[in-house]
Amino acid sequence: MVYYVRQGKMPRTRHTFERANELMREELFGEESFDGSYSLLYHRNEPTRIKSIREIKKRDPGFKLLASHTLVHTDNIKREGDFITGRKPLFGNERLVISILRPSTSSDSFFRQGLNDQLFYVCSGKGLLQSMMGDLEFEEGDYLYVPKGTTYLLQHSKSSEFLVIESRDNIGLPQRYLNRYGQIKEGVPYYTRDIRHPILKHKSYGKGSYDVYVDFGDRYIIESRTEHPFDLEGWDGYHYPFALNVRDIMPIVGKVHQPPPVHETFSSKSFMVGTFLPRKYDFHERAIPISYYHSNVDTDEFLYYASGNFMSRKGVRKGSATLHVRGMIHGPQPGTVESSIGRKETDETAIMVESYERLGISTYAEGFANKDYIKTWFQ
Ligand SMILES: [Fe+2]
Repeated sequence: MVYYVRQGKMPRTRHTFERANELMREELFGEESFDGSYSLLYHRNEPTRIKSIREIKKRDPGFKLLASHTLVHTDNIKREGDFITGRKPLFGNERLVISILRPSTSSDSFFRQGLNDQLFYVCSGKGLLQSMMGDLEFEEGDYLYVPKGTTYLLQHSKSSEFLVIESRDNIGLPQRYLNRYGQIKEGVPYYTRDIRHPILKHKSYGKGSYDVYVDFGDRYIIESRTEHPFDLEGWDGYHYPFALNVRDIMPIVGKVHQPPPVHETFSSKSFMVGTFLPRKYDFHERAIPISYYHSNVDTDEFLYYASGNFMSRKGVRKGSATLHVRGMIHGPQPGTVESSIGRKETDETAIMVESYERLGISTYAEGFANKDYIKTWFQ
């Protein structure tokens, strides 16, 4: 839930009609049954009309728990598939899957995540998220939030690459960022104005043949429809896809090193997402700008290195990703504390997912993971 949006046509009062010969089909679209954030959608056609369904089994990612820190380089991942089939799960568990998407082809099939909220980070490229609620342009550095149940298409440039976080639990703004009226508070790293919502454009689509891939975790159910899935006359409410660019997030800095929670961007019951951004370092005259060693025994920490120079890690580059597991200390590698002293600023951008449940590595990622990463602390 972000702020109230109203687009297009709708009856003056909810659950009523204006003209009996021009009935719109109202749908309540929301999370947590009837208790969570929601929008009211007004379709031209009955949204339940499905001509036929078929199913395709998905490959099980085979997540396996690790007892050691791990490094993978995602720039080695081959471009494959489209925005639906090209998602390569790297790490995950029952409630959360973190994937890299480097599509090689575009797709005109529609997609709906039946079980999971989705959060894309646009590592490179640009495009258009077209959903039943309208069009939302995106570019490098954008987070794109897509609520579970949204039917959409991702039109993207050839060089596009995404980090994809799919979560059974709802993804939202951290509760502590909101005042008692639901407004983003002063002092939060971003503001309501920075969040972009879809624009509903009226297009008239004729009858045709439209496939909607619905992800049910272990399989896709493919709905074959005769009416275009984007048939809204209007919608209003608090529940919709939105975008936020990292350049509009203002990092919090301190006199001494600030802990990861000040970099939080999104939250969920089972994890938080943080964004480490280019920023000035701490201004105490004897500050150690690099992070201290930490033993976060209740979380597994995934970090994706999006751009810049990563001072605390050796052997990582743009597109690298690490998993630091609970039960094992991690922190600066040998020599990096010494070399950080006196540094004034960093140009790094990194995306962190701190998971409260243990994260496993997929069979796919295990195939190219660096098994010697733990040795980088012993030199
Ligand atoms: Fe850490």
